[in-house]
Amino acid sequence: MASHKVFVCTATGTQGGAVARQLRALGWEVNTTTRNPNSAAAQALTSIGVNVYQADWAATSYLETAMAGCDQLFLNMVPDFANPTNEATQGKHMLDIAKAAGVTHVVYSSAFSTPELDAIPFVQHAFSSKGVLEAAVREGGFRHWTIICPGYFMANFLAPKAQRLYPGAAETGEFTLAMRPDTALLMVDHEDIAAAAVAAFREPERFHGHKVDLTSETVSVERAIETMRRCTGRNIRARYLADDEVEAAKADNPMLAMDGILRVMSKWAGAEADTGAWGLPTTTFEAFVERERQVFEETFRNV
Ligand SMILES: NC(=O)c1ccc[n+]([C@@H]2O[C@H](COP(=O)([O-])OP(=O)(O)OC[C@H]3O[C@@H](n4cnc5c(N)ncnc54)[C@H](OP(=O)(O)O)[C@@H]3O)[C@@H](O)[C@H]2O)c1
Repeated sequence: MASHKVFVCTATGTQGGAVARQLRALGWEVNTTTRNPNSAAAQALTSIGVNVYQADWAATSYLETAMAGCDQLFLNMVPDFANPTNEATQGKHMLDIAKAAGVTHVVYSSAFSTPELDAIPFVQHAFSSKGVLEAAVREGGFRHWTIICPGYFMANFLAPKAQRLYPGAAETGEFTLAMRPDTALLMVDHEDIAAAAVAAFREPERFHGHKVDLTSETVSVERAIETMRRCTGRNIRARYLADDEVEAAKADNPMLAMDGILRVMSKWAGAEADTGAWGLPTTTFEAFVERERQVFEETFRNV
């Protein structure tokens, strides 16, 4: 018998999908929305018993229907780089509807941040909504709340994210990067993000009021590339752009700006110790590649 009903934002996506699957494995009831109920992701959720409602987040009445009876919310929004305040507006709207529906417990998935990262103008522009939403969650009057802050997704190297973040990599095997070979990536497995969210839902008192940084393993970029090449047998490699090349390429590929800021992350290498201290899983990148072998095969099938 399900004892909770959780509304999971972005269940057709990476983090939300893992949260929905892990909650269903516990027998909990899960509601979500999608704009396209016919998509493979939406159909897969339906097949495991997730209640999938068709809605755009801008459509209030549909969201109210989808959240009716839910007592917990996994909040995860999507950045709008053209209009960065949209993420906060939509997220606050989601919180208002959740409150009215009777939700008492919110787990918000934000992003790893530090004062140094926050001082970078691109970060201020693109990620300002995260801070606004963290404050809205803290001050929203919910009985329990937890903010989880994931590092760099291991899934960024895989379809469908790789196509958006690293144009050409899936087709050629070559990642064009603004990072350096020794840039330390504070990587996180989305199943570990979900495990953290599920732990917070199961132990509200323990996680209440905390902001938890999540890193599964710190891996240098070149080691990540080498691990993918070795484990998949595909000719996966990187081309590291010089600073002037990065500036020239940014106009065509704004994601390189994002890539460039990751250069400053190295000083927080080893942050997985904090995740482990909470008793949360810390999957290695190699274990992730082995587990996701089939998706790697599909992503790099021409390489
Ligand atoms: N990538 C990283 O390394 C990283 C690191 C830290 C934090 N983050 C944060 O992670 C968040 C994204 O999580 P994710 O990558 O797990 O998500 P995702 O895989 O990109 O999935 C996003 C989902 O949102 C739904 N969606 C988007 N716009 C919608 C709208 N207007 N109405 C209804 N549904 C909508 C889509 O569902 P449908 O298409 O089915 O409607 C989609 O499945 C972002 O806030 C990002 O900043 C990312």
